[in-house]
Amino acid sequence: MGIAGGDVGGAPGISIRPATANDAEAVGHLMADAAGPLAAPIWGGGSIERTRERYTRMFGCWGGSDHHFVACEDEEIVGVIAHVADRTDPWHSLRASLATFRVYGLLGSFALSWRMRHMVSAAPALVRNSYSVWNLAVAEEQRRRGIGSLLLGHAHRGAREAGALTIGLEVLIGNTGAIRFYENAGYKERRRRESEGLRKMTGAAGLIYMDRAVRDDD
Ligand SMILES: CC(C)(COP(=O)(O)OP(=O)(O)OC[C@H]1O[C@@H](n2cnc3c(N)ncnc32)[C@H](O)[C@@H]1OP(=O)(O)O)[C@@H](O)C(=O)NCCC(=O)NCCS
Repeated sequence: MGIAGGDVGGAPGISIRPATANDAEAVGHLMADAAGPLAAPIWGGGSIERTRERYTRMFGCWGGSDHHFVACEDEEIVGVIAHVADRTDPWHSLRASLATFRVYGLLGSFALSWRMRHMVSAAPALVRNSYSVWNLAVAEEQRRRGIGSLLLGHAHRGAREAGALTIGLEVLIGNTGAIRFYENAGYKERRRRESEGLRKMTGAAGLIYMDRAVRDDD
């Protein structure tokens, strides 16, 4: 799935393509941006540099990802998004677990699971025929150029092609910029889950699930 920004308007000169293992460093850095205040305390032992380095290695171990796409300007990666019809796909989960294991080791993987216990999902348990978006980030100096909208539009197109009825995502409570961005794209809050444990560990009070209907013109 590849589209050019110039064709869609809003971000001329930007194109979107599947991410490969060679993109690991740029994608790893952007994934740390997408994780916001969760990044360093949960994945980096308190250090954002270590988080970026671990995300880079994990993404490299995946050999790229079938679900990640990058926005590029010339050869430079300026944004990333992941989207898929079924996030619970066992093959995807196995690859993610193996990559985590290779980067964190056995004890480190247990410790990571322990730190992640406060990340209680706000997604409703039964969402039929829904499409998922995650890991959306645009390089800081490139924001407000329409690149995030272009990446989200790419996910919307994936959702329409997959025959999904709705498209949903989770965003941190307090990430007001991203919430405004999603509202601007037609998303509405459906459910929120607060977690005192997550707030104590990361400063983020919990997660919000937002969704919107997939449209014929997506
Ligand atoms: C959220 C994010 C992806 C948006 O990317 P972007 O390329 O800046 O978004 P766009 O330029 O397409 O913005 C489209 C519209 O969304 C709204 N919007 C975007 N960022 C906003 C912000 N920080 N505050 C308020 N509204 C915002 C505006 O209405 C904007 O239109 P305008 O610039 O004409 O006013 C980007 O801010 C980002 O990477 N943030 C850090 C990572 C993150 O929080 N990711 C989300 C994880 S769930």
